[in-house]
Amino acid sequence: MGPPSSSAGPSAFASGGVLLGRATERLALDRLLAEARAGHSGVLALVGEPGIGKTALLEYAAGGAGEMRLLRARGVESEAGVPFAGLAELLRPALQALDRIPIPQAQALSGALALAPASAQDRFAIGAATLSLLSAYSDDGPLLLLVDDAHNLDGSSAEALLFAARRLVADPVALVLTVREDEPSLVDGSDLRVLRVGGLDRADAAELLRSAHVTGDAAERLYSATGGNPLALLELAADAGQVTVGPADAPVPLSATIAGAFARRVDALPEPTRRLLLLAAAGDRRDAAGLTRAAAGQGLDLAALVPAEEAGLIQLDGGGVEFRHPLVRSAVYARATPQERRDAHAALAAALPDRDVDQRAWHLAASSVGPNEQAAAALHHAGERARARSAYTVAAAAFAQAARLAETPGRRAPLLVSAADAALLAGAGDQALALLDEAARDGGEPAAVERLRGQLAMRRGPVMDGYALLVSAAERLAPSDPETAVVILAEAVFSAFYAGNPRAMAEAAGRASTLAARVESRRAHFFAAMASAIALVLEGRGDAGAAAAREAVEILEGSDELRDDPRLLTWAALGPMWLREVDTGRSLIALAADRARSQGAVGALPNVLTHLARDQVTTDQWAAGEANYDEAIALARETGQRVELAVALAGRAWLEARMGREEQCRRDAAEAIALCEELGMVTHIIWALQALGDLELALGRPEQAAARHEEQVRALARQQIGDVDLMPAPELVEEYLRVGRAGDAAEAARDFVARAEEKGQPWVLARAARCRALVAEEGGQADFEQALELHARTPDVFETARTHLAYGARLRRLRQRVRAREQLRTAIALFDELGACSWAEQARAELAASGETARRRDASAVDQLTPQELQIARLLADGMTTREAAAAVFLSPKTVEYHLRHVYQKLGIRSREELAAAFPQRFAGS
Ligand SMILES: Nc1ncnc2c1ncn2[C@@H]1O[C@H](COP(=O)(O)OP(=O)(O)OP(=O)(O)O)[C@@H](O)[C@H]1O
Ligand SMILES: [Mg+2]
Repeated sequence: MGPPSSSAGPSAFASGGVLLGRATERLALDRLLAEARAGHSGVLALVGEPGIGKTALLEYAAGGAGEMRLLRARGVESEAGVPFAGLAELLRPALQALDRIPIPQAQALSGALALAPASAQDRFAIGAATLSLLSAYSDDGPLLLLVDDAHNLDGSSAEALLFAARRLVADPVALVLTVREDEPSLVDGSDLRVLRVGGLDRADAAELLRSAHVTGDAAERLYSATGGNPLALLELAADAGQVTVGPADAPVPLSATIAGAFARRVDALPEPTRRLLLLAAAGDRRDAAGLTRAAAGQGLDLAALVPAEEAGLIQLDGGGVEFRHPLVRSAVYARATPQERRDAHAALAAALPDRDVDQRAWHLAASSVGPNEQAAAALHHAGERARARSAYTVAAAAFAQAARLAETPGRRAPLLVSAADAALLAGAGDQALALLDEAARDGGEPAAVERLRGQLAMRRGPVMDGYALLVSAAERLAPSDPETAVVILAEAVFSAFYAGNPRAMAEAAGRASTLAARVESRRAHFFAAMASAIALVLEGRGDAGAAAAREAVEILEGSDELRDDPRLLTWAALGPMWLREVDTGRSLIALAADRARSQGAVGALPNVLTHLARDQVTTDQWAAGEANYDEAIALARETGQRVELAVALAGRAWLEARMGREEQCRRDAAEAIALCEELGMVTHIIWALQALGDLELALGRPEQAAARHEEQVRALARQQIGDVDLMPAPELVEEYLRVGRAGDAAEAARDFVARAEEKGQPWVLARAARCRALVAEEGGQADFEQALELHARTPDVFETARTHLAYGARLRRLRQRVRAREQLRTAIALFDELGACSWAEQARAELAASGETARRRDASAVDQLTPQELQIARLLADGMTTREAAAAVFLSPKTVEYHLRHVYQKLGIRSREELAAAFPQRFAGS
């Protein structure tokens, strides 16, 4: 068999450049490109066994690019340790558009690609920037992105690419990637469109073989032996005579067979040629100069490669070596003895300039037998550099490999801890856990190991394991580093909050306060105050809790350093949440969300958005709350944050209950409960129970509602959660009264009123006043009026409307029709505005009973918007530009415009002014 017959490049087809067969695949690719030209982005992953023809199809796509500009990259194993190697290769031509993307994103990307000083970011920030860059570059015309062997991309590049690919919608961009089946890759578990590439059919296989001068029986036998794998056909054609073929239907391990064929050809080469090939296989294909130096280091001359070229195994162009096929590279590497391989890596390491210090580190590592401190130190630094550039996957691998090479457990353990920390930042929980186990065995710093284990358990459950580990870590650190100990204790308080364990919360919060009192540190004081606030509130000491929350908010608002600390994003949102007052610190929640968005802190967003949404659901901003829950849930799923997912689902279920959306509410509550049970979370099971009870009440089924709310009361008692805000007594009072259990209603009201007075905050006092009014013997009008006054001091319009409804119903029964109608009309207007449809219906029924019919609210056009359309419409209505909105929700400006067109169509509007009018803002800062 001769060399490849085409000189058009390394990937040209052996059959003379003609792509045989592949009608389906061509069609799919043609369509993908045509759609991209027309402004509809598309992604296609070609998946199949080695040699099946994936790269050939990629070349077909390249051939059809026409005026589309090409961006290409190829995953190479030897570059898996270089942070963002693949992404840098792919994006190089697009970097000219860097000054057209949002500045924080441009900075993140430049740092990641080593074009600017490194700055560690959220792991998804680079993906967000990649999307923006591709979008900006495609403003000048359509793009075709081709990524060959994507399974070999460095993990950080793969993640960024996937993040961007999933969000390409309305830009003229097509992405085609190839992946070997059975190799782990970014395609796994993603929703990327996959096309499986199978063998050629019999006729095409026969034609391919004719080009290699194999026909008749021999061709038929080869076809059944290879299943039409073109590379196997071509390679085995060379020794068609000797092919022994198993039963026609028995699967042949093809890559082994093909590799075997290549290996025979490698073995036939002269020894210097083989050694040079090995250097080329182990090294960087683009670095011709490095190869020359490494060869010289081994006393070899590149001229000795010619026999390999003549044997059709490689092509030499521009001094670089291109292997005929990736399997040749594998075969060359596999044929060498372990010592030959180590020598090759040593020679490559010695030949690399300082610029390639990361690759040098990996070559050093591969050149060592057993421990090697020099290599370990080099990889340690490589890990630090990767981490500084937000390439956490790469950093974890480098630290872990450094640990393998370290000479003593004392050196090994801290490297394993660093590896685990990076793995945690990379979102690789299982890997982090395994590394921590190793670190513990090697005597790793117990406080560090426990803290990371605790943080992991806090995110993945069981959450009380997280608590125990964090507390223990904090105690170890307390004598030497009380400030950090306080921060860890605050994390522990949160774990116990998820677990619904107020006693554990109180213990850790108390300890945090004691430690904080000993140090002059605003940070420590903030965390201690916040931890105390949460613990006190959940325990039922609302007044003290509110004071602590206020203190925390003040510390934060008074310190630029703390306010600007990205690590405090999620904490900043907490204070206001626990206060439920109209003004206190509410802007902090929105600020935290804005920060997370502009920094591309995608990983922090599920938590921050859930806080924001929960806050909005207790104001009149339900639509915004819904959009934020939707986004939080989608991002939590995408980033694998199951604890956050459970919280957001339980929260959304509650909103859906208030809206009377039965099916969605039940679905979200069920998923939340299942997750909570698995992760040991109790507080959010209680939220879900509350949602289910509120749903029944909203739907006018008091009996079922009472059963759910009683379940909630029992769960609260079991957990000794005393937070009166979580008590469904006001709902129970209504339910009992409706089913004729007046005695139970009175008792529930009495108990609740007492507790509400202890807490003394307007939100709960208003609910208590409504309870008193509901069970009052005489009319209860004064209590209703008082409830309304208290409601006016909180932003929770829904609660206000509920009181108007109850008041109106009472007045109607007292035959004060005119006053009743006033209350009921207000209730209807408020419920309608919120979108509390079933409650609005109940209020309408009352009004009808008073002899007046309210016009039914037209199904609002806003209701027909998808969650994403709603989110975008709101951001634009708030005054953001298209570009700002795009950056905020991690989409391209064109995709934002695309959604906006749908919004305009659905709402029947034509301008931003009309849009703003359709989304009135009652409370600023949301
Ligand atoms: N449809 C085809 N018609 C003619 N030749 C083909 C066809 N498909 C593949 N080939 C040839 O078969 C060989 C293997 O194809 P290719 O390199 O595309 O496989 P691959 O799936 O990319 O393999 P790997 O997973 O190893 O990268 C190449 O020489 C290619 O030119
Ligand atoms: Mg290929």
